[in-house]
Amino acid sequence: MSLIDDEGVSNLSGNEHFQDVMEARLSRRGFLTGGMATAAAVSLGGIEALLKAVPASAQETEGESVDSAEEHAHGRPFLGFESVPVSSADTVIVPKGYTAEVLIAWGDPVSNGPAFKQDASNTADEQARQWGMHNDGMVYFPIVQSQRGLIVQNNEYTDDGLLFPDGVSNWTQEKTNKSLNAHGVSIIEVTKRTGFPWDWRGRRGKWDVVRPSPFARRITGRTPIEMGGPAAGDPRFVTSEDPTGKRVLGTLNNCAMGYTPWGTYLACEENFNGYFRKSGPQTTLEKRYGITAAGFGYLWHTTDKRFRADEEPNEPNRFGWVVEIDPFHPSSTPVKRTALGRFKHEGAWVQVARNGRVVVYMGDDERNEYIYRFVSNLPWRQARLQGISPLDEGILYVAKFHADGTGEWLPLTPDNPKLAGWSLNDILINTRGAADAAGATMMDRPEWIDTFPRSLTAIATLTNNSRRGSNPPSVNNPDGSTAAGSARPPVDAANPRAINNYGHIIRWHYRQDWTEPTFGWDIFALCGDPANPAHGSTIFGDKYGSPDGIYVDPSGLLWIQTDVSTSTINAGAYAGFGNNVMVAADPETRETRRFLVGPNQCEVTGVFMTPDRRTMFVGIQHPGERPDDLPADPANPKQFSSWPDGPTGGRPRSSLIVVTKDDGGKIGS
Ligand code: FEO
Ligand code: CA
Ligand code: CA
Repeated sequence: MSLIDDEGVSNLSGNEHFQDVMEARLSRRGFLTGGMATAAAVSLGGIEALLKAVPASAQETEGESVDSAEEHAHGRPFLGFESVPVSSADTVIVPKGYTAEVLIAWGDPVSNGPAFKQDASNTADEQARQWGMHNDGMVYFPIVQSQRGLIVQNNEYTDDGLLFPDGVSNWTQEKTNKSLNAHGVSIIEVTKRTGFPWDWRGRRGKWDVVRPSPFARRITGRTPIEMGGPAAGDPRFVTSEDPTGKRVLGTLNNCAMGYTPWGTYLACEENFNGYFRKSGPQTTLEKRYGITAAGFGYLWHTTDKRFRADEEPNEPNRFGWVVEIDPFHPSSTPVKRTALGRFKHEGAWVQVARNGRVVVYMGDDERNEYIYRFVSNLPWRQARLQGISPLDEGILYVAKFHADGTGEWLPLTPDNPKLAGWSLNDILINTRGAADAAGATMMDRPEWIDTFPRSLTAIATLTNNSRRGSNPPSVNNPDGSTAAGSARPPVDAANPRAINNYGHIIRWHYRQDWTEPTFGWDIFALCGDPANPAHGSTIFGDKYGSPDGIYVDPSGLLWIQTDVSTSTINAGAYAGFGNNVMVAADPETRETRRFLVGPNQCEVTGVFMTPDRRTMFVGIQHPGERPDDLPADPANPKQFSSWPDGPTGGRPRSSLIVVTKDDGGKIGS
């Protein structure tokens, strides 16, 4: 633990150190390929220690740390907390001995900016300086280890019924702009109060947002972003605003995330299709990605031509990517990394192979979509020394799970005989179609992925799939012509339940290294209520369903967050499950305990710990969302939840919360 333990770091020395680092960083303009500034971040911030695969730190950060060994030696359970009960209360529930507090909520300023107005009357420009709506995947980037750092968090989508005093009526360009500005990514600087011994209860151990901070930033649906990698400049990216096909405005629907060993954040564009409208006949590509006449109900197209695919047919092609952001360089331009393919990216989890190449795991979250892997051509340090992004040159693969418990990675390259006639850019822009042709395994909505470095094991949530095993059976056509999410595949070994309402969790592992072309796999859990035989659940412990967020903490404990849709929270197949939850599971015994229950109608999504495991950041998304998925009623915004502001607040707000143990101990212990 020596690399990442922050015992004994005093606030004073931390501050001095921080000033030096900050000045050094701000004086350099190296951006994403720059060496020096980010090297400082890596050595000081312990990014490598966080990246659990780094061989030198793997043993120290997982399982066999001194603390865990002691825990086992003393016979204490790996899961040391008392499970919390199912709850339908409009509050966050954590175990006895723990405290959960809101750190920042939608509309709060990210630096010294405009305050949130409870009637939602903040302007579009004000929103661009405030925490975005509906936060999701996040990473804590240490500046001074577990005391001070940056939190980068996605703002996946908006409920435009809550975003304005009068909801979606009287729509204007100002409303389009505010909605776009509430999307994207939010960056804040956070610090843990050291306090004084006599003030321990009131102050010590609490976290604050640093205001002002030179690192605080909003990236929105309107921020200029560069297209990078092989497909940059492709004619299919050219629009009336951008004849180069290399510069796009904004990033949308960022769901989960990733981070790199060189200290950058990866925001992943998921359901980008829903913002666009296409009234005329769909192309095969539009059909495969779900660009439709109805969209998801957003009204941006009524004022902004960008979202009218009939007029700007290439604009949707500029979304559905992984976006790299350097949080330590606030003026840097984010880059969409096209080598990672285009689909409804859930997240992008990076591992380092023995030879230094990076391996990125990615899910495409829609029914019957696929799990992908990218392997860089060069070791990441070598690539960066040559001024090449390690995420720009490499091979994209898609997973095939065989019934015998083995699997293989199918290369999505022009020399794959199944992709004869496809150029690399064809593959990268229509990745779903290429994976159809290659013969990948259709999965039950791939969500988050994380890794156990010591055992070379990756683990992925498959949230649910109501079409699996339903009639009439059909599969994704190999010519890429299937409408998004429309097939009804039969059950298979890796997706073994028909009408999979509760979802499952799958693992795969390697013998020697992350880059091997084949793997072995098994199912970690079939979700549902283990006390109800009709569910067919294999959970050992507390019930949960629709697993989405997943996180392997620095000790190797597995955290699982649920996303039961608002239409079925505590109803239908989920009657008796209460609100959405986060559970912790021992990856070896599989024992599972409920750790946190969210407020009404929320999803629990986004989780990250400080390296010392004494602070856990958790995202609470869309409290109070209507069960019918329509925008909230502006006349009654608190109909389903008033969390977190309660009776004095004007409307429910997605928030980032901090969970700490009252005795200052490690989370989960
Ligand atoms: Fe945005 Fe797949 O959850
Ligand atoms: Ca998700
Ligand atoms: Ca989800």
